[in-house]
Amino acid sequence: MSQREQFRTRLGFILTTAGSAIGLGAIWKFPYVAGQNGGGAFFFIFIFFTFVLALPLMMAEFAIGRTAGADAVTSFKKIAPGTKWYGIGILGMVTTFILLSFYSVIGGWIITYLGKIFTGELIGLQSEEYALLFQKTIENPWLSLSLQFIFILMTIIVVGHGIQNGIERASKIMMPALAILFLILVIRSVTLDGAVKGMAFLFQPDFSKLTSKAVLDAMGQSFFTLSIGVSVMITYSSYLPKTTNLPRSALSVVSMNLLVIILSGLSIFPAVFSFGLDPDAGPVLLFNVLPTIFSQLPFGMFFFAAFLIVFFFAALTSAFSMLEIIVSVLSKGHLDKRKKYAWMIGIAIFIFGIPSALSYGVLSDVTVFGKSFFDLADYAVSNVLMPLGSLLIAIFVSWKMEKSLLFDELKRGSKLKRGAFQAWYYILRYVAPVLIVIVMLDVLGVWRR
Ligand code: PHE
Repeated sequence: MSQREQFRTRLGFILTTAGSAIGLGAIWKFPYVAGQNGGGAFFFIFIFFTFVLALPLMMAEFAIGRTAGADAVTSFKKIAPGTKWYGIGILGMVTTFILLSFYSVIGGWIITYLGKIFTGELIGLQSEEYALLFQKTIENPWLSLSLQFIFILMTIIVVGHGIQNGIERASKIMMPALAILFLILVIRSVTLDGAVKGMAFLFQPDFSKLTSKAVLDAMGQSFFTLSIGVSVMITYSSYLPKTTNLPRSALSVVSMNLLVIILSGLSIFPAVFSFGLDPDAGPVLLFNVLPTIFSQLPFGMFFFAAFLIVFFFAALTSAFSMLEIIVSVLSKGHLDKRKKYAWMIGIAIFIFGIPSALSYGVLSDVTVFGKSFFDLADYAVSNVLMPLGSLLIAIFVSWKMEKSLLFDELKRGSKLKRGAFQAWYYILRYVAPVLIVIVMLDVLGVWRR
């Protein structure tokens, strides 16, 4: 076996992991799911799940990955030889496969909008006209498919080049740029007339309106946005030197991601209310709102282009991690096989994603379980497969791995206290499984008979 690559620095690891986390989940999905679920109460439940479930689970994946130092499937085989636990790794591969198939559709939408800036189509419209224009654009089957393909192509090329030269380098530049551009957007949005209503929508919880769907969405969103439960974090941490502080790294990633979520909420909702748009618009929300805000800024189209470029990279760095986990399992650390598998799997994902890409156009009337292909894929990933993977990982770490070894692994390079470790351990052992099962059963209506 050829020797495995490693991250060059801890910062490189954090930014790459944050690169996987920060993506469409924080920027595109959070605003629309929060919008559909009434805002404030959803946001608070989301924060609760982030710290009580997603953060401990991220540390759990880090502990598995660094203990084993191998890909998503081999890690489980090494830690629990002769058992079927490696199924968790396979589940992760299936989940990221489906995930990338619709994620790339949104990636394509971003490219479309970049193109429109350069053709000048976006200048001087009213907010409803932006929404119409967007609707018309994503209806076009050939455009949707070819741009989805370009997005996947770029993912294939970077992943084919391996961790250090591709993924780590790109993340280091793009993440800081994202924060700066977002700040400009937030300043414009919160100073619009009527912005206060949008802030109240996001920050004033009305728990009486909370539905079980909102609770499931909030849990799914906390896993989705932190790339939890699909072995991505296991894969990335397997490239770590033994000295990296795992708890601190996890906390940094969660905080950075939360910051982006707050920035994106603060840039979207004040504008939605100020322009009288509908917060419940669904997946198209961001694309309807952003052009209106930017068109009201001096040099608006310039900033919009910059924003879309950075947004695009945020989406790409997440997409890398999805393909990476599959490719790393198949190529088993052989650098020369990476390229081949990146191409094979990438093309398969594109083909699988065709119905999702057409969901907003020619296939918009076709539904399965009452959902379009796009929504179904998203629902299966966010609300079923990711919680399931998370549940299994929590159980594996806290019931199957040796407690003292876990403590040593997390303690290495950090000042972890015994008490904090115990809290983490019992969360994984009892709280996480019980919570996840309750929330998932609730959706099936099990508690409402
Ligand atoms: N966290 C990514 C985002 O928010 C999505 C993702 C999920 C990436 C799972 C990899 C694995 O966009």
